[in-house]
Amino acid sequence: MQTVTLSADEVREAVTMREAINAVRDGFIGLAAGEFEMPTRTVMRDGQFLVMNAHHRASGSAMTKTLSLNFDRTPAIAGTVVWTETRRTDTLIADAGAVTTLRTGAAVGVATDLLAPADAGRLTLIGAGGQAPDQVRAVHAVRPLRELTVVDTDVRRAEALARMLAPELPATRIRTANDPETAVGDAEIVCCATPATSPLFTEEALPARVHVNAIGAFRPTMRELPDGLLADSTVVIDEREAILEESGEILHALKTGALTEASLTELGTALSAAEALPGGRTVFKTVGVAMQDWAVARILADKFLT
Ligand SMILES: NC(=O)c1ccc[n+]([C@@H]2O[C@H](COP(=O)([O-])OP(=O)(O)OC[C@H]3O[C@@H](n4cnc5c(N)ncnc54)[C@H](O)[C@@H]3O)[C@@H](O)[C@H]2O)c1
Repeated sequence: MQTVTLSADEVREAVTMREAINAVRDGFIGLAAGEFEMPTRTVMRDGQFLVMNAHHRASGSAMTKTLSLNFDRTPAIAGTVVWTETRRTDTLIADAGAVTTLRTGAAVGVATDLLAPADAGRLTLIGAGGQAPDQVRAVHAVRPLRELTVVDTDVRRAEALARMLAPELPATRIRTANDPETAVGDAEIVCCATPATSPLFTEEALPARVHVNAIGAFRPTMRELPDGLLADSTVVIDEREAILEESGEILHALKTGALTEASLTELGTALSAAEALPGGRTVFKTVGVAMQDWAVARILADKFLT
């Protein structure tokens, strides 16, 4: 029996964003088809400790992620992803921060590929923290970026991220801003990646045709999106139970009547649907589910376990 342990750097070297997107896409389709056992995650200390599990029935494999979260600390996420199987006795333990940014980016890549106009290439990213680089990489993997605007209330963070990404995006015009309301005005794609507790912009600030991803709010008290946008858009979510338990903006919009539960579509269902979703504004809201971590962990297990 062997335990392989992988650091954040080793995870990043082993898995490309493209591989993560493909694995997470298959995972969402499998989730909608009932291929996973996935209990609602355990949340302790109002979200500062999370425990997440997913079991893939057909392969007899399971992933458990345990992490602590502290936005006053760098990195904000610290913890482990543990992979086990019923067939093999070998196990794998990987850095939870690296797996989380990859799989969260990958979900946004899958949704953006499905929902954003084919010619969209102008991204406004709000929140230049730990999740931000993989949000940009994932969108770029499915919609090569002509322009990127990085927005953060702390302009030094926005500038640092712009400098960091520039060598990876030589053909992209990159600028920084500190006011989300004006920065989304000409966006074709928006990514929200902040711990905000009130909407980052008004619906009037957005163009008529735009795709918005929102990963930030994962507690009922948090919100990045205005009700008006949710009322006016095709809204795709990662998983119904998790969203109804944790997504502050969806819960708020359901309470005010801006949304109904029936108007929410799970990503896996949307990916499997024969007919295309309606055009206009689209939103992908994710709180993050254990299947995504399982999907990235499976890539690692395939590469590192014999
Ligand atoms: N959905 C998921 O699967 C998932 C996965 C991981 C993290 N998250 C969440 O995503 C959010 C971002 O995580 P992170 O690790 O990047 O956090 P972080 O603290 O590293 O970065 C957040 C950034 O947002 C900026 N910011 C805060 N409020 C803002 C505002 N109103 N306008 C503009 N910028 C603002 C901050 O200055 C900071 O630079 C958190 O809420 C985290 O819990 C979600």
